Amino acid sequence: MPDDLPFQSQTPDALMLFGFWYRALPANQLRSGELAKTMLLEQPLAVGRDQQGQPFALRDACPHRGMPLSCGHFDGQQIECSYHGWRFDAHSGQCKLIPSLVPDQTLKIDRIYAGSYPCEERDDFIWVFIPDPGPSGAGFSKPAPAPTPTPEIPKFSEHYKIAYLTADLPCSVDHGIIGLMDPAHGPFVHQAWWWRSQKSIHEKQKHFEPIPYGFRMSAHTPSSNSAPYKLLRLYADADSITTTIDFVLPNLRSEIIRAGKYWFSSLTTITPITRNQCRIDVVAAWNLFRWIPFGPQLLKFVFAKFVEQDRRTMELQSEGLKHNPHLMLIDDADRPAKWYFGLKNSMLEVKKNGGEFRHPMSGPVTLRWRS
Ligand code: FES
Ligand SMILES: [Fe+2]
Repeated sequence: MPDDLPFQSQTPDALMLFGFWYRALPANQLRSGELAKTMLLEQPLAVGRDQQGQPFALRDACPHRGMPLSCGHFDGQQIECSYHGWRFDAHSGQCKLIPSLVPDQTLKIDRIYAGSYPCEERDDFIWVFIPDPGPSGAGFSKPAPAPTPTPEIPKFSEHYKIAYLTADLPCSVDHGIIGLMDPAHGPFVHQAWWWRSQKSIHEKQKHFEPIPYGFRMSAHTPSSNSAPYKLLRLYADADSITTTIDFVLPNLRSEIIRAGKYWFSSLTTITPITRNQCRIDVVAAWNLFRWIPFGPQLLKFVFAKFVEQDRRTMELQSEGLKHNPHLMLIDDADRPAKWYFGLKNSMLEVKKNGGEFRHPMSGPVTLRWRS
């Protein structure tokens, strides 16, 4: 095989990045006093809401003998394990009662903890912070607070609307992410008579710059075949419209489109559930469409169509990936994917050996492709 050909082996073992906030589930799927079972980065979670509506997340395994706590009884404050009835505070995970103890048995139950995770509600989702794996035995101690706040969708006015879409993708987080930033699949995957055809393919040039732990497609007049752009043209001159797209580790893609006082802002995440499964969540906020009938519904329809086309594509792709083929990343269309792997490897390197984070980009870059 000639070595100037850009063959790549499969993505680096689909390693998942610990030490970040991840979207766990849509906030409206959890009512006060409810407990749900979910999974992030192969960590089983019991996520719930207390009587006051505050969300919490516990490791879904009782520290006694591993029974899933999500099978237990939740009274809105404490969870009672369904196996031997140990009770835990929903937020701290601290053990509050061991029913089998007799009065003169002095086991210090307040030193026993079910593993718990920082958990917050933000922009229509419940987020959970998944820390770096601690030394064994951890999880029986008090949880540490998250070192960073939850990611948030930038908003540019007091009043706005917000909506989300979610879909399971049967592939590793890496394929989910590079699929999300891949410009070349558009004309082939996202066709529709009301949208574009393969014939609309044309040469594009985009400017990119490094930002902390990520990269930015710099503010510019957006591509004439991007979704919100077509709707925005109804409001403002094409020249006054600017858009910025950022990708930041571990999995955040944010897009901001502004046209005078109108704006559209979205935060898309690809969340690793297991090594071979991830989920895409798109949350968008905007202050547009007050005068177009069906504006939000139209936008949701367009996005849902796109997400479904991507999901279907990745479902088919996973058939091919089962046999672990060698893969390629080509210039310039796959350069953002290369940056992603570079960023992720640098982060893994820092977590393993410490030292400075090495950014894969040394400065601004212009990329060209046809799409
Ligand atoms: S396994 Fe939970 S109380 Fe025994
Ligand atoms: Fe797509």
